Amino acid sequence: MQHKCEDHHMHKINTAEKLALFSDHWNPRIVGELNGQHVKLVKFQGEFVWHKHDHEDELFYVLKGSFRMEFRDRTVVLSENEFLIVPRGVEHRPVADEEVCVMLFEPASTLNTGDAASNELTRTVLEKL
Ligand code: NI
Repeated sequence: MQHKCEDHHMHKINTAEKLALFSDHWNPRIVGELNGQHVKLVKFQGEFVWHKHDHEDELFYVLKGSFRMEFRDRTVVLSENEFLIVPRGVEHRPVADEEVCVMLFEPASTLNTGDAASNELTRTVLEKL
């Protein structure tokens, strides 16, 4: 029997397979979309830039490895199977001593570098995998 499905709807996604399709850092790929939110996969290594998002909460879920989320007053270490929600308006900076694979869940409007001046890490157009 044939059926039609649009995009990823009704198709399961294997995050390991998607992660194998790219190797660069700080460049999120969109792997799902629902209710105006994007599900993204990204690899971090090194230090990102300090920034905040005035209108979006961001969820970071560690699939493989670990990293630390720095806030102005504390640091949260995130390991595999752990997630953290960064509320809108809160300054943050992800830092990964070694490569980490992360799933992001955030509104489609979210710019990775938030309110930081556009820089070499800013990604305005994201690839869909
Ligand atoms: Ni952010």
